[in-house]
Amino acid sequence: DDISRLGRTMLEWYDRHHRTLPWRSEPGDTPNPYHVWLSEIMLQQTTVQTVGPYFAAFLDRWPTVTDLANAELDDVLHAWQGLGYYARARNLHKCAKVVATEYDGIFPDTEEGLLKLPGIGPYTACAVAAIAFNRHASPVDGNIERVISRLFALETPLPDVKPEIKEKSAALTPSNRPGDYAQALMDLGATVCTPRNPACGICPWQADCEGRKSGIAPDLPKKRKK
Ligand code: ADE
Repeated sequence: DDISRLGRTMLEWYDRHHRTLPWRSEPGDTPNPYHVWLSEIMLQQTTVQTVGPYFAAFLDRWPTVTDLANAELDDVLHAWQGLGYYARARNLHKCAKVVATEYDGIFPDTEEGLLKLPGIGPYTACAVAAIAFNRHASPVDGNIERVISRLFALETPLPDVKPEIKEKSAALTPSNRPGDYAQALMDLGATVCTPRNPACGICPWQADCEGRKSGIAPDLPKKRKK
């Protein structure tokens, strides 16, 4: 049906065009949950480009979650300098300690289990469950909000439209590769379905995109006036 076709098309695009990122496993390889978790925390208010060197420095110094748990908080805060939002770094260290001491250094592999950890909210739990553990979960970040609101020409403004976006994206998520599907939408939003001047001509969903058909894609998603 149309739903599985759209999901498959997106995965085929991902296999050819995905970004190679320092924390990301190649399609078909087993992801490292520590890498996925660390990157998702770092990416919360920071761009992919800025995070790159910080992520490499953390892994170099603390190769496993247990190494990070055994670090001095001051050293972690110092290594975080420049990423901002120090509460994130404190929670990062707290979370590493909980995983090391209460979970034998192994991250819980469900959305529900991840949600119990310090500093892991609904978005992060969903993203790590999908990307690290291939759970059928559909995280929605800013890039994915844009892609999905355009595909279905959703004109209800943010944040009211969020539940509808989540539902639509979940319905499109292929059950065999939910993590790659989520990362595909992130990459499409970052490289093709951009906020301004989207490159609709090279989009794998161009033939199905309602926003493109009605010419309103660049205006979506709408935001509620303040
Ligand atoms: N932003 C947040 N998580 C990301 C990921 N896994 N890949 C690319 N950009 C992201």
